[in-house]
Amino acid sequence: MTGAPWSTGVGRLPDGALAVAGVDVRDLAAEHGTPAYVLDETDFRMRARAYRTAFEAAFGAVGAGVDVYYAGKALLTVAVARWAREEGLRVDTASGGELALALRAEVPGAEIGLHGNNKSDAEILRALDAGVGRIIVDSLVEIERVAYLAAERGVVAPVMVRVTTGVHAGGHEYIATAHEDQKFGLSVNPAGRSESPAMTALLDVLKRPELKLLGIHSHIGSQIIDPDGFEAAAGVVLRLRADLAERSGVLVDEVDLGGGYGIAYLPGDVALDPERVAKDIAQSVAGVCQELGTSLPRFSIEPGRAIVGPAGLTLYTVGTVKPVTVSSDDGTELTRTYVSVDGGMSDNIRPALYGAAYHAEVVGRSSTAERVLARVVGKHCESGDIVVHEVQLPADVRAGDLLAVAATGAYGRSMASNYNMLPRPPVVAVADGSSRVLVRRETEADLLGLDLG
Ligand code: LLP
Repeated sequence: MTGAPWSTGVGRLPDGALAVAGVDVRDLAAEHGTPAYVLDETDFRMRARAYRTAFEAAFGAVGAGVDVYYAGKALLTVAVARWAREEGLRVDTASGGELALALRAEVPGAEIGLHGNNKSDAEILRALDAGVGRIIVDSLVEIERVAYLAAERGVVAPVMVRVTTGVHAGGHEYIATAHEDQKFGLSVNPAGRSESPAMTALLDVLKRPELKLLGIHSHIGSQIIDPDGFEAAAGVVLRLRADLAERSGVLVDEVDLGGGYGIAYLPGDVALDPERVAKDIAQSVAGVCQELGTSLPRFSIEPGRAIVGPAGLTLYTVGTVKPVTVSSDDGTELTRTYVSVDGGMSDNIRPALYGAAYHAEVVGRSSTAERVLARVVGKHCESGDIVVHEVQLPADVRAGDLLAVAATGAYGRSMASNYNMLPRPPVVAVADGSSRVLVRRETEADLLGLDLG
């Protein structure tokens, strides 16, 4: 097997070509075309199970229950939602569309959470009608809105209040969500007021008979490699919970610690180990609750990337190869080989948006050629259309070669666009030596059909 950042089912065949779960990538390309998102089902299930069992064991050991929600924003298809559920996970959604998809996959409403900082009335009503287990409210206006709509439907809406703890973690400023100057959540920091926006919101929810306050939610960022941030944020949330109990007499039952567990994108990257991080967080929250003299709540987490990221790769075909002379930082000249593939920023916006680093290899054959400094670029009309900023590829890389980019399972297809009228690639699942299409390739007819002339 080839190892991280590739999925566990990836290996090289005797002739040097890559296979995923026993399927030769040349066969995948021939059958499904390129570019294609390829998803290793067994790897996805293994990671889903690993997170669930690690957190259940660690939190169970300190006497707390825990639920694992798969964050559908990373990649949500009907099959993926079913796999998550079959592995004992619930599903976290962030829009009416994601909710519709989870429902189509027959995930019971009670096992779905709905997020969003600006949910529409229609989204809230859909969630209420589906009987979702939790709506995570994000502002005072929204609390009023959910209460109003719940009254209209004659139901009591189960809500969690999303708070910002001031803990900042993660790979990139746009990905970090718990520091103060951003749109999500309600701050636990009073900042000159007599009480914090978070406390105001919690008390407001408690006052409303149309709402049931389940608990407090915190998500601190994404692609987090150092678990300290989770522990710090959990401590802040548990203190807020104790303060609320003091103010209102209500000790809420649930605390959600969000997602953000980091993965390996490059060879040599260290991913968060679910067992270690689960133990660290469980011990830390148990200590805080003991210190506060409160019982432990039921916890939940919402990993997305850590479940589906490593399970995916993107398969491309090389179209052109062009050596470009560039001057390096020390003034010397070097040659960078630009390798253009048949996709680009429309199927993976992360390098352009976050400067995210990826790893690529020529996968349809072996090569003994020396390695050269290469940049993998797409076919879009802009120079920022970069798939892999820097990678060593064989000097004989040429048109027609198959090239795979590792660890694209999360936020690839889900953030894909039709820039330059490119149809979005299919999602192809591979397991036990065979492949099946989960989401078909878009066609030009699909795109033209939207334009009413
Ligand atoms: N829960 C909440 C409330 C979130 O906002 C997110 C991600 C997650 C869970 C899942 O986080 P994960 O475990 O996948 O890191 N599109 C970006 C990241 C932004 C994600 C926003 N929220 C990316 O491509 O890295």
